[in-house]
Amino acid sequence: MNVQTMMVIGAGQMGSGIAQVAAQAGFRVYLNDIKQEFVDRGLAAIAKNLSRSVEKGALSEEDKQTVLSRLVSSTDLADGKEADFVIEAVTENMAVKTQIFTKLDEVCPPHTVLASNTSSLPITEIAAVTKRPEKVIGMHFMNPVPVMKLVEIIRGLQTADEVYQLTEDLSKQMKKVPVSVNDFPGFVSNRVLMPMINEAIYCVYEGVATPEAIDEVMKLGMNHPMGPLTLADFIGLDTCLYIMEVLHEGFGDSKYRPCPLLRKYVKAGWLGKKSGRGFYTYN
Ligand code: CAA
Repeated sequence: MNVQTMMVIGAGQMGSGIAQVAAQAGFRVYLNDIKQEFVDRGLAAIAKNLSRSVEKGALSEEDKQTVLSRLVSSTDLADGKEADFVIEAVTENMAVKTQIFTKLDEVCPPHTVLASNTSSLPITEIAAVTKRPEKVIGMHFMNPVPVMKLVEIIRGLQTADEVYQLTEDLSKQMKKVPVSVNDFPGFVSNRVLMPMINEAIYCVYEGVATPEAIDEVMKLGMNHPMGPLTLADFIGLDTCLYIMEVLHEGFGDSKYRPCPLLRKYVKAGWLGKKSGRGFYTYN
């Protein structure tokens, strides 16, 4: 299949990043969200990122304008009728995602592939609400999308081989490195990353060390670009808690129990960088 038009559902941090790399790869991209102001915010973030690349000399002003001209704003899921390939990047909530996939299945042409950027929810279950489970796949980008090379590609139980191949090819066109994984809670990335972050939070909870000290240990001792608590703030503590819950419920193993301090912070509205406070304070 020759993909020309893509649609990204959700214009937040992940969705706008995905729309940016897709537009830079030459695709026409509908960027969709429930309100025009959310779409505008996503488009402004893309424009800012591209302007930074122009300032650094990595992109010409003309190329920036060409990339921006490929982006079409949308607040109606029915625009999916134009798309060959859709990537959903909305909040990590199964009910919201299944509602969106049901609607997309109705409005998109039969050939359209429906991908989810979910970071831990089962692709097989999302696929099951559609009449095209063989065309549903997981395409998990990492934050910040324009910088991080990985795309974790998750096959649902019924995903067709041609759809996997197409998703891998598109990832490469978007200058990403695809890695194939099977459909298990947290896939690989979050099954390994989140328990480490959760354990770092236990270290704060038990008074083993300060957040600064824990981050310093992991940065200087293990060469991580960000310490686990800085990274947790960057990802969002609500997202971290949600993923730990998915692992805990999915495997039924107490080793995945979310730290009570993580729950407390989320209940307080301390969600990390986006709310101005998490393990650190942000202006
Ligand atoms: N958007 C676009 N570009 C960005 C950016 C953003 N949000 N943040 C940084 N950059 C770019 C900078 O412009 C800079 O580009 P150049 O090299 O061309 O100048 C480059 O990234 C490096 O940035 P900085 O020098 O400002 O800072 P840094 O060296 O500390 O790098 C970082 C920033 C890339 C975010 C780095 O700290 C890092 O790799 N952190 C870990 C990120 C990570 O682990 N992500 C995965 C999170 S988990 C996830 O996403 C999955 C999930 O399901 C939860």
